[in-house]
This record gives sequence, C-alpha cells and structure tokens, in this order.
Amino acid sequence: MSVLVTGGAGYIGSVAVERLIDAGEAVVVLDNLVTGHRRAVADEAVFVEGDIRDGVLLEDVLAAHAVDTVMHFAAFSLVGESCAEPLEYFENNVAGTHSVLKAMVAGGVRHFILSSTAAVYGDPDAVPITEDMPTRPLNPYGLSKRVIEQMLEWHHRAYGLRYVSLRYFNAAGASQSRGEFHDPETHLIPNIFMAVEGARDCVTVFGTDYDTPDGTCVRDYIHVEDLSDAHLEVMAYLRGGGSPGVFNLGNSTGNSVREVIETVKRVTGGDFTVVYGDPRPGDADKLVASSKRARQVLGWKPQKGDLDVIVHDAWAWRQAHPKGYGD
Ligand code: UFG
Repeated sequence: MSVLVTGGAGYIGSVAVERLIDAGEAVVVLDNLVTGHRRAVADEAVFVEGDIRDGVLLEDVLAAHAVDTVMHFAAFSLVGESCAEPLEYFENNVAGTHSVLKAMVAGGVRHFILSSTAAVYGDPDAVPITEDMPTRPLNPYGLSKRVIEQMLEWHHRAYGLRYVSLRYFNAAGASQSRGEFHDPETHLIPNIFMAVEGARDCVTVFGTDYDTPDGTCVRDYIHVEDLSDAHLEVMAYLRGGGSPGVFNLGNSTGNSVREVIETVKRVTGGDFTVVYGDPRPGDADKLVASSKRARQVLGWKPQKGDLDVIVHDAWAWRQAHPKGYGD
C-alpha cells in the first residue's frame, strides 16, 4: 500500500513527502517539474516525472504501487498570476484534478486529500473564517480550487470517493532540508529575504488602503511542517473511516505585510528599502483562519505558530541553500 503525492517536488508537497517517509509510509511522487525540483524529493520516495493530465500514466502508477491515498498538491497557486492567466489555472488545476479523479475511480482508489486554499473565501464577512462561511473567490486560483471542492462532493456521492479538502492559509517556513524556492519568486517572505540578501533593490508593499489596522493586507502564516503534519492526520482519519469534509489550516493569527517586514528585519538583522506600491489584483483584505474544526476533529495542533519561528526556519533554510535546489 502506498501514498501518491502529486506535486511532491514542490514546496509544500516535498515537506509532506519527508514527513510521510519519516512515518514509515511508502511514497510515490508524480511531478512534471514545471515548478518543482527533482532534488526536493526524498531519496526514499519513488519518483515519476509526468503530468497529472496524463490519465494513462496515472492509472499505471496507481495500480503498480497499490496506492490507497492520493495527496494532491500539484497545481498552479499564484493569486496574481491567475488573474492574468486564467486559462492556465482552469486547465492545470480543474482539468488536471479531473484527470486524477478519473484514474482514481477507474482504479478503485478511494482516499483523496486536496490542497485547497483560503483564497476560496474571497473577502470574508468576518475573521477568523470558519469553514461554513460563504465562498466568493476573488481570483481564478481560488475559484479553480472551489470548483474542485464541488467536484469532490459529487464524486463522493456518485463513486464513494472519501475526501478531505484542506484550505491552507499562507504557507511559510521550511523544514531543515526543504524550503521555498520559486523562479520567479512572488511570495512575500522570500521576496523580503531577497531584499535582505541584496538580490532585490527593495521590497514593494502591494497596497496601503486595505480595511486593516495599518492599511496593508493581513494574512495567517502557517509553518509548512504544521501543514504537512495535518496531511498525515487526515490520512489516518480517512483510513479510519472519517467522513468527507473541509478543514481550514492556519494559526488563527493575522499579520499585516508591514508586520511581516518588521519580523524579517528583526530575525535576519538585515535592512532594506521599502516602497509602497499599488494593490495587487485579486488580493483580499484579511484572511485569518479559525482552525477549530481541524483541532477538534483531527486533533491537529500547530507546533510552530509563532511568526518569528516561521521566519527563522525559512531564513535558516535559505542561508543553508543560497541557490535553492541548484537546478
Ligand atoms: N505582498 C507584498 N509584496 C510582495 C509580495 C506580496 O506586499 O512582494 C503581499 C501580497 O499582496 C499579500 C501578502 O503580501 O497581501 C501575501 O502575499 P503572498 O504572495 O506571499 O501570498 P498570497 O496571500 O497572495 O497567497 C498565498 C498562496 C496562495 C494562497 C493564499 C492563501 O500563494 O496559494 O496564500 O491566503 F491561496
């Protein structure tokens, strides 16, 4: 019996693979390496280079490795990019997931864990956000994940698929050996690191007129190891007969862009120029999770909730891997 991790060469997927291996699971990674890194995949995992839209390949992999659970990380995941390239997002995310689900139904594989996102909520009526609040995505990325969640409800009813959708808030931090490295980089914390390193002239704050205490966007930063651990807890939950459902994964703490900049300055001891620019399309004012459901139902408890710890771990990884994965 093994676990198929699509997108297992990516930032969050590769840390989840590390945790699965540590827990003694047999793991197969399927990744097309468009945004992932081959070297991010733990040596103990079987690696298959391929695309989730290749249904024949998926059916072969599911059967050859006796897969019982699919953790589906593979996706495009940038809010700003999705507003400019919606076709790509619906094709890779929605059509790609359709292909994974089709292979699972054909192969009788019944456990599915989706990497979903806080971006499904749009601008929430209140924070912290609970899972039963309305979903009104502001960008194609969030919409693509919401469509997938709706597909899952029907696959459950029609084919008995047992699924959990995990709505991640802002993944950040690193494990000792795996961290965040994108080219080009768009995420806030690595962008600030690049300014500390001198690889960028400045940090640009996207918008200062949001409906937040200091006018900059508020997000709930969650350590990638805590996110990964939730996947193991969900897998145990599904294997134990748990019902399909949706869980938020965040620390329930909101930090503004300005606060993140100050934290990075404090943790790294670096300094840099900050420029105040226009808002980025598709950004919500405030996204802060209530994770009560995950805590109560799954017994999930984030271990590294402090933003200083998250930034410290991300910075430690970056200093140890100045060229990322070197590819
Ligand atoms: N930001 C800046 N300057 C930058 C980069 C980002 O001001 O150089 C701002 C953004 O506008 C946003 C905040 O910092 O307000 C965080 O931006 P990120 O790009 O780091 O993250 P996002 O909130 O856009 O998105 C991340 C994931 C999504 C996920 C979302 C959930 O990339 O996949 O968190 O909250 F949907």
